[in-house]
Amino acid sequence: MHAPLAIVAFVVLSILAVFPQRALAAGDPVNGKTLFDANCSGCHTVKAKDPVLFGNDNPTQIQFAIHNEPEMAKANLFALTFAELTDIAAYIASAVGGAPAGLNYQGLWWASGGTEAFWGINFAHQGDQVFGTWYTYDTSGKAWWLSMLAGRTSPSSNEYTGDINVDVGPPFDNFVGSGKPTKVGTGTLTFSDANTGTFHYDLNAGTGGSPVAVSQTKSIERYNLGTGPQPTCTFSATANLALATNYQDLWWATSGMESGWGVNFAHQGDSVFLTWYTYDSGGAPLWLSALAPRVGATNAYTGTLYRTSGPRFDAYDSSKAMPQQVGTATITFTDGNNATLSYSTTGTGGLPAVATQSKSITRFLFAAPAGTVCK
Ligand code: HEC
Repeated sequence: MHAPLAIVAFVVLSILAVFPQRALAAGDPVNGKTLFDANCSGCHTVKAKDPVLFGNDNPTQIQFAIHNEPEMAKANLFALTFAELTDIAAYIASAVGGAPAGLNYQGLWWASGGTEAFWGINFAHQGDQVFGTWYTYDTSGKAWWLSMLAGRTSPSSNEYTGDINVDVGPPFDNFVGSGKPTKVGTGTLTFSDANTGTFHYDLNAGTGGSPVAVSQTKSIERYNLGTGPQPTCTFSATANLALATNYQDLWWATSGMESGWGVNFAHQGDSVFLTWYTYDSGGAPLWLSALAPRVGATNAYTGTLYRTSGPRFDAYDSSKAMPQQVGTATITFTDGNNATLSYSTTGTGGLPAVATQSKSITRFLFAAPAGTVCK
């Protein structure tokens, strides 16, 4: 006996759609083959570009198939853990293919032509999933962020769609527990090339202070920090992330110890632009940002931390943007996959004065092949 499919699917999706919620180790294709032979090979053939399996080298998609494909509603398939599905996904990637054809959109994006400065959306792109973290303002002008795990609509499409969530969580200076997401709408990203696209969203009434539902489509483009060449990001099932020298990605607390907050780095030349997604003392979403230049020839990058208030998400008005200095942030990279985020705040901008705190952070891996590397 198992729960009705609709309920199972709901539980699965609500787990997966959380902003940094679960870490995913890059899968083990050898164990994946053993699991595939035991559970899948009765119905699926393994051959290059098999039309059913091709492109499904992703544990989330396999989980979705198990819960939505009537013939796959079997106790042994329901019993497979996410880690086992990750191994199976790695095997499918190696034997069938599906390292996603096409472009990788990882990086920081904003309104095309810079016409709407002060809000943006960061993309982490792994396999056929784009994790978007959108930093903007609620109707009162308060810094506010939303997140979206958007799946590619078909193996060859340029469109990615998913639920949009708002998280509430523990305050940044005393992070105990985890963030809690609520679905507030849906979003679609459509890319026309590596650097341009559109972001369409439909937010439910009551979201971000708006009494009415809001739907908008924004033209977006890759943001250029102007501090060096724009990196190019590529997918790899085998990348050793520790060796990466470009840090552009979404990072979170090491081992997922503090699920619910994350920090995104856009990295060009010797500067990192960080967008830190966290919560204020009331548990409301709060983002802070800093442009952090490298300190000499060290592995540290440091800059002034800003809290910005600005134009409400549904009515852009550049005159409303007001960045305020609130402290300092320093990121010290041990290697391409491990760093320390240290920060202090001075008591300005509605934030408490916080003596320096340090967090161990690592890249957030959420979809196989979880090896996006930018160079
Ligand atoms: C009892 C038979 C059966 C078993 C066992 C089974 N599948 Fe399936 N699977 C199907 C059928 C039928 C479909 C639908 C085929 C189609 O879309 O043409 C499907 C579809 C899929 C899809 C594609 C979903 C999509 O997006 O189109 C994936 C991925 C998949 N299976 C993976 C697996 C994996 C991995 C296993 C083992 C863990 C497995 N299946 C076990 C019968 C099975």
